[in-house]
Amino acid sequence: MTDDVLAVHGGTPLNGRVRVRGAKNLVSKAMVASLLGDSPSTLYDVPAIRDVEVVTGLLELHGVRVSRGESDGELIFDPSNVESASTDEINVHAGSSRIPILFCGPLLHRLGHAFIPDLGGCHIGPRPIDFHIQALRQFGAIVDKAPEGMHLTAPNGLHGTKFELPYPSVGATEQVLLTAVLAEGVTELRNAAVEPEIMDLICVLQKMGAIITVHTDRVIEIKGVKRLGGYSHRPIPDRIEAASWAAAALATRGDITVLGAQQADMGTFLNVFRSIGGQFEVTDTLPPNETRPGREGGIRFWHPGTELTAVALETDVHPGFATDWQQPLVVALTQARGISIVHETVYEQRLGYTEALNSMGATIQTYRDCLGGTPCRFGRRNFHHSAVIAGPSKLHAADLVIPDLRAGFSHLIAALAAEGTSRVYGVNLIKRGYENFETKLAELGANVERV
Ligand code: EPU
Repeated sequence: MTDDVLAVHGGTPLNGRVRVRGAKNLVSKAMVASLLGDSPSTLYDVPAIRDVEVVTGLLELHGVRVSRGESDGELIFDPSNVESASTDEINVHAGSSRIPILFCGPLLHRLGHAFIPDLGGCHIGPRPIDFHIQALRQFGAIVDKAPEGMHLTAPNGLHGTKFELPYPSVGATEQVLLTAVLAEGVTELRNAAVEPEIMDLICVLQKMGAIITVHTDRVIEIKGVKRLGGYSHRPIPDRIEAASWAAAALATRGDITVLGAQQADMGTFLNVFRSIGGQFEVTDTLPPNETRPGREGGIRFWHPGTELTAVALETDVHPGFATDWQQPLVVALTQARGISIVHETVYEQRLGYTEALNSMGATIQTYRDCLGGTPCRFGRRNFHHSAVIAGPSKLHAADLVIPDLRAGFSHLIAALAAEGTSRVYGVNLIKRGYENFETKLAELGANVERV
């Protein structure tokens, strides 16, 4: 597909300002939550990304009227006429995103039945949904897995339950929240994920009328209510996109101010960024001449001009180092002096992209062992989930094929950091999570063109 290829003329530092909008991994869930209300909801600062299109399509199929509000990025969801959709219509969205699994609870509450297509999302491991299904069954749902997707009913309604997640899964925590808020009685979720996007989803649900208490030690208690209304919400900014631009600044020896980036959600990333030698400055007010609406302030990230330092890091659930920060930052680590170690503990197969970096001159070796940190659930299994990066390496141009969203962005950063012209195939995949990335690249002085 020729229009899906970007020629990247690398070797130029990226300098300038970009703005991040509402977090992809909150926005899509808040959109699903609108189904639970009996009046319209308004979401501000919604980025124009593919995941938003997919969820919009699914909501519309179920009778939710989605319209644009007055401000840029404002979407209004009117769930007054929620209705069933046909399996064939829903299946048009099969394989396009992982969000459809979160329609289970809301559709069971609104319609008494649900059909969920085969899921998509990034190919970064098997990504099972067993926690979701176990939880839904405990709420009282009958789940039938069929070749075309998953059929669910709740003949006796949904009832609060006690559930302990085997691992603090983001999606399964959201599944429980979106189901428990209207279930009869109290739900206690143990070992819940507490990512900032989940806390923001809890804010959305609270605005709708839900009663949710977050206790210490990953325990969330939800008191079911009889009805929920709409919400009006400005999402937290996208901390993953913000970190991606920070990594791009470091890898290309540049200087990027990420407007909207919020320190509180990026603390762990900022510590690692600083340990490598990256410089940053947090500003809490808008810079001069910046009048666009959105969160105030941002973070400026820049290369120190001296050599970067190797680090050992381990990805983990929040408040650890987010797995989605890993791939872009590894590109910067190829430029650091010494041996860096990255232990990926969230996904078992999220290091495959390092082969592409090696083809550009990086020296990265992956291992099955848990290196540099505490043993994780993937240790002694057949997964290359630790990486050793020896640097600094001079990167040179190559032809690259984008395998998934975050690895895709890392390929792009590598091509921008490398001398010469790289061809990056499959760049449209990046649109799943990065709004207007080509315009932003141009604004930062990158020399890229569609070929
Ligand atoms: N897991 C199971 N069983 C389940 C659910 C999860 O074994 O039923 C395992 C997964 O296989 C994985 C781990 O638990 O090893 C964590 O998965 P989690 O459920 O937390 O991930 P997710 O909800 O599918 C979201 C984000 C991901 C992000 C992860 C971890 C969205 C749409 N996706 O996925 O974001 O990496 O949480 O923080 O919110 C991305 O934005 O590029 C992305 C992949």
